[in-house]
Amino acid sequence: MASSASAPRGLGKAILLGEHSVVYGHEAIAGAIEMGVECRAEPAEGNRLVIPAWDIDLREDEDHKVAKAFAALLSASGCNEPQIFHCETDLPAAAGLGSSAALCVALARCLAPTLDTDGVQELASVGEMQFHDTPSGIDVALSATGGIGSYSKADGLKLVDCPPLPIVIGLSGVERSTAAMVAGVASRMSESSTKACISTLGNLAILGHAALCEGDMASLGELMNESHRCLGKLGVSTRELDAMVRASHLAGALGAKLTGAGGGGAMIALAPGNEEKVAARLSQLGYTSIITTLGAQQ
Ligand code: PMV
Repeated sequence: MASSASAPRGLGKAILLGEHSVVYGHEAIAGAIEMGVECRAEPAEGNRLVIPAWDIDLREDEDHKVAKAFAALLSASGCNEPQIFHCETDLPAAAGLGSSAALCVALARCLAPTLDTDGVQELASVGEMQFHDTPSGIDVALSATGGIGSYSKADGLKLVDCPPLPIVIGLSGVERSTAAMVAGVASRMSESSTKACISTLGNLAILGHAALCEGDMASLGELMNESHRCLGKLGVSTRELDAMVRASHLAGALGAKLTGAGGGGAMIALAPGNEEKVAARLSQLGYTSIITTLGAQQ
């Protein structure tokens, strides 16, 4: 999203490695993307949130999860002046690209313009908790900070000093709920195969961190492929995501995997020099594809 003069914004993100395992304390690797949410507020008679791209126009007391997040943010910010919040976004909702966190960060910045980045994360997390019961915090951290790096619940976001990483995003067009996908994995955590998948996903992210720092795209791609297979075993991939991953490989991607919670949503492909070919192949199959970079700056 082209950043307009001074509209407070939150960025979207894509997870390179470590979704789901990050919820259990493992490290994940992810980057902010240029797509995001921009928010402007003006005085009004009552609080209202308008997001035309997501077909949202609501007050904070409505029975809607976005209204609940909006209400939680209004209350936590201590802002007592009624306002109408206009949000513009090029992020698809519920697609695994951090749309709820981007909204919460943009609203937090609008409600409390003097907060520093840590303060924005803290306030935005209050809203994000209304969307996802147990968010790891990775989405809000990247949305507020930008860049590319490793994240764990214990250590927060540690940026990696590397050039922005070109990726292709493929959208399955299937909306899903992160909270439901995370709850599904949690319900299977007593099974040894689920525990093994979570620990493998965490280990792949650690290896990916090293590959990213070394600029070793071939290894990074292979780790993404392994991660996608593991996410499939975890039960969070879908026919559409698998089809896009296969198509990306055929078009020359070094690595491809679902990104985010799965169950629909998006996949990413790492295809240095072959981005256009991968995007064209995904489009031919009827999926929306986006060529972008991980590492967008706030
Ligand atoms: O699908 P998204 O963009 O909400 O990403 C979710 C990532 C998870 O690891 C599955 C959940 C989390 O809170 O980290």
